[in-house]
Amino acid sequence: MTEQKATNITWHEGTVTRSERQQNLGQKGCTLWLTGLSGSGKSTIAMALEQVLLQRGKHAYCMDGDNIRHGLNKNLGFSAEDRAENIRRIGEVAKLFADAGIIAITSFISPYRADRELVRELNKEADLPFIEVYVDAPLAVAEERDPKGLYKKARAGEIKGFTGIDDPYEEPDQPDLHIRTDQLSVAQAVQQLLDSLEQHQLLAP
Ligand code: ADX
Repeated sequence: MTEQKATNITWHEGTVTRSERQQNLGQKGCTLWLTGLSGSGKSTIAMALEQVLLQRGKHAYCMDGDNIRHGLNKNLGFSAEDRAENIRRIGEVAKLFADAGIIAITSFISPYRADRELVRELNKEADLPFIEVYVDAPLAVAEERDPKGLYKKARAGEIKGFTGIDDPYEEPDQPDLHIRTDQLSVAQAVQQLLDSLEQHQLLAP
């Protein structure tokens, strides 16, 4: 748990309610948390889902590990501590988006169960829906795809601590949704995510 450093701070309650925001936007905010190996297809299906939701007049926003590490999290690397901080920060940002009424779609390896659980708790405490999605492709498939050529480099010893090679990935025990990207098309994977949003009644105020 990250300690609270600042003292003498007081929570200031706003007057706009969550329900007013939901009515305005015609949906409920939430976090769709995609976790899985590099190359498992997280960002591909996250961005395809974002596109479909926008076509339907819904408000969604994708946050992607590689992209966020260019800005907000540019001071973080890939040690267990830095990955934990990466996930904590993005969990907080997604929570703000969800509170604003947006469907926050996050695409981070998030290899540690404890880090993902912390984010689930953050959202639960705020009474915001959190859907953990295991984007699952076997390591051999992810490595075969190797879209950024990073597995090749990791196997050659040019990258140390690469998830799945010489750094752990802890599979979710009970994800809310389990998507096998080695068995489904991108459209089918997106459909599963849409079905889940419908089941949770998030696409209406
Ligand atoms: S996480 O583990 O902290 O959740 P994140 O999703 O932000 O990782 O970033 C993963 C991306 O960073 C990978 O898709 C890959 O492009 C790149 N990357 C660079 N070095 C590593 C590494 N050592 N392990 C995993 N991914 C890495």
